[in-house]
Amino acid sequence: MSETSPIRSPATPRPTSGAPRYAHVIGWGSYAPAQVLTNADLERMVDTSDEWIVSRTGIRERRVAAAHETTASMAAVASLRAIRTAGIEPDDIDVILLATLTPDYWMPSTAALVKEAIGNTRAAAMDVAAACSGFVYGYATGQAYIASGMARNVLVIGAETLTRFLDYSDRNTCILFGDGAGAVVLGAADTPGGGLGIEMTTEPEGAYMIWLPAGGAKRPPSAETIARGEHFVRMEGKETYRFATRTLASTALAAIDRAGLKSSDIDLFIPHQANIRIIEAVAKGLSLPMDRMFVNLDKYGNTSAASVPIALAEAVNQGRVKVGDRIVIVAFGAGFTSGAVAIEWTADPERGRTGDAAVTPADAHVRLTVDWDSVDPIPDALAAVMGRPIAPGVDVPLDDVVPGEPEHARRDRKTEIRV
Ligand code: ACO
Repeated sequence: MSETSPIRSPATPRPTSGAPRYAHVIGWGSYAPAQVLTNADLERMVDTSDEWIVSRTGIRERRVAAAHETTASMAAVASLRAIRTAGIEPDDIDVILLATLTPDYWMPSTAALVKEAIGNTRAAAMDVAAACSGFVYGYATGQAYIASGMARNVLVIGAETLTRFLDYSDRNTCILFGDGAGAVVLGAADTPGGGLGIEMTTEPEGAYMIWLPAGGAKRPPSAETIARGEHFVRMEGKETYRFATRTLASTALAAIDRAGLKSSDIDLFIPHQANIRIIEAVAKGLSLPMDRMFVNLDKYGNTSAASVPIALAEAVNQGRVKVGDRIVIVAFGAGFTSGAVAIEWTADPERGRTGDAAVTPADAHVRLTVDWDSVDPIPDALAAVMGRPIAPGVDVPLDDVVPGEPEHARRDRKTEIRV
């Protein structure tokens, strides 16, 4: 590679022998878009009610990415917050793993866009596809990179723009999901701590229980697939519910067992935020009180791969996690997949607040192409939500400016959005 190339090859240290390398969580951060979609809003879109949604799921509202936001842009904000919390520079990251089922494009990877947006010049970057379990799978992969000596700092992200893959006339799915991003930085250390036990499962019998039928090689996108709504998430809710309640507790227990611990040793569980009834069933299955379960699904709904890292960052920043605590992150999702990591927390929780305050959405710039005319991708129901005034104090919206973008492209992009 030439000296002048802006892209340097990743620093991949040779595997070390001897001393074990532990992967500690040294940074964490999250980002939730500002626009709120309430149950009352959904009552106006489909035949549902606030009472039904709250009693069957626990969800009260969820966030909707603004028209200029994407999985990459939200991931970049959460990542910069995690990097700031860790007290390192973007270029200290060796590997970027981004878990998502709603990438910006089929290719390039969303991780590649995030690498540029956060100002990293040297990491290897790739996406992880394991649906809602994706962040936990990414975490496990990051830990393996560090344990093998191939990386010192790994950025693990979960980010989703699910609202663009939902059919807002299907009450079975559109009430459940929302948008957002969360990230952690795993750092190598020779002192014990971090991930102590990991479990991951994949059960392909559930492959068609949550799926997005068209757009892939089996069913390439066409006017017909669009007309049939096959580009939207489909789900067999009851089967998924059964899988989740059966698997979450057993997966968490396997990870805890690998760590040489018992469930009563765990200070806080951070489960995938899909449904309060699923979380309650897990608590019951583990014979633990609900105050050991972190819950924020009332505010965000199910943000798939983003759910666990958003919950983790919030739990730490709310003072629910202390140095020396043992926590478990656990998720399930399409595939069917499940994953859990039992973690010993070693970082000063106070650092999280610094990271969040130091990074605003305007600090992350995802480069767009400027020579390609896209059709308007935003469905009417979503465009109406996006166009509403934003309640004060939720978060700062991303600046609708792409550095270096010609004025006409900005203007065109704005007029594309029907509000
Ligand atoms: N509003 C009002 N009524 C509704 C709604 C709604 N939004 N949705 C369904 N109903 C109706 C059904 O039509 C049904 O009516 P019927 O009895 O007349 O046929 C009734 O409510 C009960 O429906 P159920 O499906 O039995 O409701 P259930 O209690 O199972 O709850 C739910 C449904 C919330 C989807 C639940 O099954 C669930 O949470 N499943 C897991 C889903 C999940 O976690 N998915 C994410 C997976 S992670 C990933 O990888 C993406």
